[in-house]
Amino acid sequence: MKSVADLDTPAVTVHLDVMESNIRRVHGHLAKHGIANRPHIKTHKIPAIGALQMRAGAVGITCQKIGEVEVFADAAIADDVLLTFNVLGREKTDRLMAVSRRLNRLAVVFDNEVVARGLSEAAVRHNGEVPFLIECDTGFGRNGVQTPEAALDLARTAMKLPRLRFEGLMTFPNREPATREFLSRALELFKRAGIRVPVVSGGGTPAIFRAQEFPMLTEHRAGTYIYNDVMVVASGTATWDDCAMRVRATVVSRPTDTRAVIDAGTKVLTSDQYTVTGYGHLIEYPDAVVTALSEEHGIVDLSACRERPKIGDAVSVVPNHCCVVSNMVDEVYGVRQGTVEVTWPVAARGTVR
Ligand SMILES: Cc1ncc(COP(=O)(O)O)c(C=O)c1O
Repeated sequence: MKSVADLDTPAVTVHLDVMESNIRRVHGHLAKHGIANRPHIKTHKIPAIGALQMRAGAVGITCQKIGEVEVFADAAIADDVLLTFNVLGREKTDRLMAVSRRLNRLAVVFDNEVVARGLSEAAVRHNGEVPFLIECDTGFGRNGVQTPEAALDLARTAMKLPRLRFEGLMTFPNREPATREFLSRALELFKRAGIRVPVVSGGGTPAIFRAQEFPMLTEHRAGTYIYNDVMVVASGTATWDDCAMRVRATVVSRPTDTRAVIDAGTKVLTSDQYTVTGYGHLIEYPDAVVTALSEEHGIVDLSACRERPKIGDAVSVVPNHCCVVSNMVDEVYGVRQGTVEVTWPVAARGTVR
C-alpha cells in the first residue's frame, strides 16, 4: 500500500477514521431524536461514500443537481432522492423524468409557479408524476417563498397542476428563531386548509446538533459534516480533529524568513471564504495564516510560528469549504494510519447541470 508521504502533491486526502466517526456521530444524533437523516452528497460527490452513509442508516440522499442524481442512480446508491434546486427548462425536466424512472422516489423542491408548470408539463409528456416540497426562505435570503401564506398559495396552485404531488416543506439552513416561527405558522395554515404535510425537511451542518429544537422537522439534510472544514470549525460544530479532508501540499519556496509558498492555490483550495478569513488551516503549523492564493500558489505567513517548515516539507491544509474542493479534483485518497487505503474517483465532479 502506498504511504501518504509518497503521494504527489497537491493531493486531497480524506482521513477515513475521522470520516467514519463523523458519519456515526451525526447519524446517532439524528436517530436519537427521531429525525430522518438525508445526507447531501454534493459535499463529496463520491458514490462509495454515499453508500457508507446509507449503510449507517440514512433514509435516502439529497442532491443539488440532476447530474448528481444521474451519477448516484448509475451507482444504485439510494432509491429515495431529494433534489433541492429549482429545475428549469425542457432539457433538464426531460432528464429529471428519465432518471426518476430508475428510482423509487425522486422528489424535487421549488419556490415558484414557473418551475411548477415546467415540471407538470414534463410529467405529462413522460406519463410520470413529480412529488414536490415547497422551498421556504426562513432567513437565509436565497431561494424560497417569503411567507408561510405564500407557501400555502404555491402549494395550492401546484396541486391543481397535472401530475404534481405535494409532499411538504423544505428550508435551508435551520435558523433560530426564524425557521421555527415560519414553519410553525405554515403548518398551522396547511392544517386549517386541510392539507397534510408529511415531510418537513431542514438542513445544514451547523444546525445538526440542534435539529431536535425544531420539533416539526421530519428529516435533516447535512452535507459538510462528512468532512468538516474551517467554516464548520468556526461555527463551533466541529474541532480540527473532526476535519477529515486535508489538502496535502508541499512547501515549494521560502522567499523570506516569515513566508512559505505551498503548491496549492485557488485551483485546489478555491477562493471561497464565506464566513472566515484566510484560505485554510495548516494542521502542523496552527499559528500559520494562509494569507493569499493565486492559481497554483498558496502564500503562508509564518510570523506567529515558532517552528517553520523548510522547502520540500509537506503540510496538511484543512480547506475553508470542503464541498467546493471536491469539485476541483479527479480523485481523493482515503487514508488511514499513514497509508492510502483507497483512491476514489470524484464521480460526480463537474455535474453542475
Ligand atoms: C439545500 C441545501 N440543503 C442542505 C445543504 C447541506 O448543508 P451543509 O453543507 O451545511 O451540511 C445545503 C448546502 O449548501 C443546501 O444548499
